Order: sequence, then C-alpha cells, then structure tokens
Amino acid sequence: FFSEELLNAKRIFNETNNINLKKLIKNVEKHAIKIEYLEHVNAFTLQSSISKTNITMLAGAIICGDTRLIDHVFLMKRQPIIAIDGPAGSGKSTVTKLLAKKLNFIYLDTGAMYRALSWYLINEKINFENVQELSAFLKNVSITFKTVSKSLQEVIINNHVVTDKIRSQEINSIVSSIASIKQVREFLVNEQRKIGNKGGIVAEGRDIGSKVFPNSELKIFLTATIDERARRRKLELEKQGCGEISFKELKEQIKKRDFDDSNRKISPLIKAENAIEIVSDGYDIEQITNKILSIYLETIPKELTP
Ligand code: CDP
Repeated sequence: FFSEELLNAKRIFNETNNINLKKLIKNVEKHAIKIEYLEHVNAFTLQSSISKTNITMLAGAIICGDTRLIDHVFLMKRQPIIAIDGPAGSGKSTVTKLLAKKLNFIYLDTGAMYRALSWYLINEKINFENVQELSAFLKNVSITFKTVSKSLQEVIINNHVVTDKIRSQEINSIVSSIASIKQVREFLVNEQRKIGNKGGIVAEGRDIGSKVFPNSELKIFLTATIDERARRRKLELEKQGCGEISFKELKEQIKKRDFDDSNRKISPLIKAENAIEIVSDGYDIEQITNKILSIYLETIPKELTP
C-alpha cells in the first residue's frame, strides 16, 4: 500500500503540479503504526526548500507490523534542460545536435540567433549603436527555427531564410560586438526562455548555464585548445567552399572572439558554477556526445528518463 500511495501522489502531481502532503500522510496513517518520516524534498540535496527545484522526491519510512518500510518516488515539473556552453570551435554545435537527437529533445543553437540578428541589423542598415532605434527595431523581430530534415534546421528571421548567410566571415567578425549590446541580449535571452521553458531541450551558447537556464539539470562547459579549434574551423569553412584560409588569421580571429566574449560586461562567457568541464582535443563527436549522455544518465534518476 505504501508504494501505491506514493505512486498515486505522483500521478496527481503529474496532473496538478502539486503534492498534498497532509492528505498523503493521512492516507498512509490508516495502514501504518508509525510514520518515521514522509517528506517532499530536493532529489539531489535532500533539502526541503523545493520551490525552484525541478526534480524532487517523495521519500518516507514507516513501521507496519514488525516491518520497517522505506520507499520513494521521483517527481519532475518539466522535462530536463541541458546547457552546453563554451568558446568558438569547441564542437558545441555538432555535439549538441547529436545529443538532442539521441534524447529526442529540442536542439537550440542560441549562437544562430545572435548571428541571425546581426545579419538582419546589417541588412536593414540599422544603427544599432542608437539605443532607441535598436529597441524600436527589436519590437518587430521574430526568429524561428524550422526543421526541414533530420540534419537540417533552417534559421528564419522575419521571413528571411538565413541559415547559410549567418556563417559568413563578415558575420563571424561582427557578431561578438553585437552580442555585447544590452538590448540585444535581453531580447534574445527572453526569446530563448520562451522556446525552452518547458524543458526537453539541449541548448548551446555562451551564457546558457549562467544566465538563460541557470536551473538546468546538467551544465557542460565544452572547450578545446585554441590550435584545435582553429584547425576545426578552417576545415569547416573550407568545406563550405570558402577557399584556402590562413590558419594563423583564423586563430587570431578566434582568439579575439574568445577575448570579446569572455570580457564583455553582460553575461560574459564563463564556466557556470556547477558546470562540468570537458576538453574535446583528441576525441571525436561521438565520443564526446556519449560522455555527456552518460553524465546525463547518471544525473537524472533512472525512472525519469525514457
Ligand atoms: O559557432 P561558434 O562557436 O563560432 O559561435 P556561435 O555559437 O555561433 O556564436 C556566435 C557568437 O554569438 C559568439 O561568439 C558570441 O559572441 C555570441 N553568443 C553569445 O553571446 N551568447 C550566446 N548564448 C551564444 C552566442
């Protein structure tokens, strides 16, 4: 009966997002001689402050006849969120995409949003240094992602399909300075939260674990040495048909972007407090993805993962 009562409380929680602990205790008391404890706690810290916690646990110990029974159930308000942050060229995009596919989660490339907005501001010749002009402009901006095939997600900004255009060297060189503007960040962080607040999402960027979704169940800081990142970016650009590109120049460009992203005033690129750092040098995409997947499966209680 004890497990059944807990499972019943879980069913009600899934429908109402609420636990009526008093009622549960009353129901259990009908059968048990004594309840040692029956509590609703944070599943990771076991503390009772749970208002902002997504994964919680109903746990109890009761005396029933000669027997002491202990049992628990895990509860989850929304699906988990995985935050993957790190510098340019660390392999974030590819890993995040693959991970989202394996978990059947939404894939959110926040960098693509900063890139799309940068492209649009330039295309529309907006003076983004003028706060009023920028704020008025942002009121009518809408960015969406459209999945067209298993491996392709189109990026659309106000009816312009910009998926390829936002990967140009012109955008590479300007995106960080546009991403440092307060109004731009506020606008995009808000959009990102709208997409991800129900969970079931793997989001990648610079400030996901620290700012956009600080309550993510898992935070990864993915990085690699500067040489490795420049080497990967060179291959990527050449594959896109950009011709032979100087390794030295690319390395300098990435270094500059790292510097700008890490030193801006608002939400700089940092390793979030409880993020796990992974250095991807020497590992391929599949290996890194599987590593993150195994950390995820260790973090999320088994009964809550499909
Ligand atoms: O793909 P890559 O690592 O080169 O960069 P990205 O993820 O496409 O992001 C492009 C730029 O957008 C970054 O260099 C940051 O300046 C900015 N960004 C940001 O400020 N915050 C985010 N959450 C994501 C990107």
